[in-house]
Amino acid sequence: MRIKGNTFIVTGGGSGLGLSTAQELLRLKANVVVIDLKDDGKSFFKGQEQSVLFVQADVTSEASITKAIQQAIEKFGENIRGVVNCGGILSIGKIVGSNGKPLDLDLFKFTVNVNLVGTFNVCRLVAAQMVKQKPLEEGERGVIINVSSIAYQDGQIGQVSYSASKGGVASMTLPMTRDLSKFGIRVVSIAPGLFETPMASTLNHSKEMKQKLLYPVEYPARAGKSDGEFNKLVIHLIENTYMNGEVIRIDAGTRLGKL
Ligand SMILES: NC(=O)c1ccc[n+]([C@@H]2O[C@H](COP(=O)([O-])OP(=O)(O)OC[C@H]3O[C@@H](n4cnc5c(N)ncnc54)[C@H](O)[C@@H]3O)[C@@H](O)[C@H]2O)c1
Repeated sequence: MRIKGNTFIVTGGGSGLGLSTAQELLRLKANVVVIDLKDDGKSFFKGQEQSVLFVQADVTSEASITKAIQQAIEKFGENIRGVVNCGGILSIGKIVGSNGKPLDLDLFKFTVNVNLVGTFNVCRLVAAQMVKQKPLEEGERGVIINVSSIAYQDGQIGQVSYSASKGGVASMTLPMTRDLSKFGIRVVSIAPGLFETPMASTLNHSKEMKQKLLYPVEYPARAGKSDGEFNKLVIHLIENTYMNGEVIRIDAGTRLGKL
């Protein structure tokens, strides 16, 4: 899939991995629709209004995402060729806490709702639009890239809700690929290790905890970078038509045991 001149939606594009993806797509001359729950990120796109549409919307809302897609078509035409689902939240809590109480069911539901249901909601609505659009070279209509996490396989203590949500994102990759194959739409998921973003910094790790988290990272032994590492993988997955139906870990060889 060519990037220049095509339209790509990036959810969670106001911060972290989504922001760096949106900026790289813009640098490569794409039209970008940034969807984020918060409008803080809007200022990052100042002066680029011709190629960017910033929509403040919740990924879990059918009405808001449908409206965002309509707005995108009005601004850039019926040319939505990709979506990168970076919108998501982190949540922490053991199934039974140190106080003996079971995990708040609403926290579990909220996490799964944003990370899994929200991702699926955007996928289904964007896919339905892509299906209507004219195919390009080799019958390709579009590409969907979802962000899971290495916690889908290596979930840690306190990550039961987050891991469940990211496991769902990873598991739906293949069936979505199979559903959309006849329309020339590819689906790939990325499972990042620890990346330097505002989300990761909310963990507020002590020096000791940081060392613990970075210990299982092989080479290079540091957190990943949104710019030049995560966003470059997204660009490759968009451009390489033979990448489909796969969950790719980007984690410098990290395999988390019990920390
Ligand atoms: N940073 C990491 O180490 C890491 C590792 C693995 C996976 N991930 C995943 O990557 C994705 C991006 O994370 P990040 O580190 O860039 O985080 P981030 O907090 O910097 O960015 C996430 C963005 O998603 C937006 N968002 C949250 N809920 C939303 C909703 N309901 N609707 C629309 N937007 C919403 C937030 O406003 C925020 O701008 C997340 O899904 C996260 O779980 C991050």
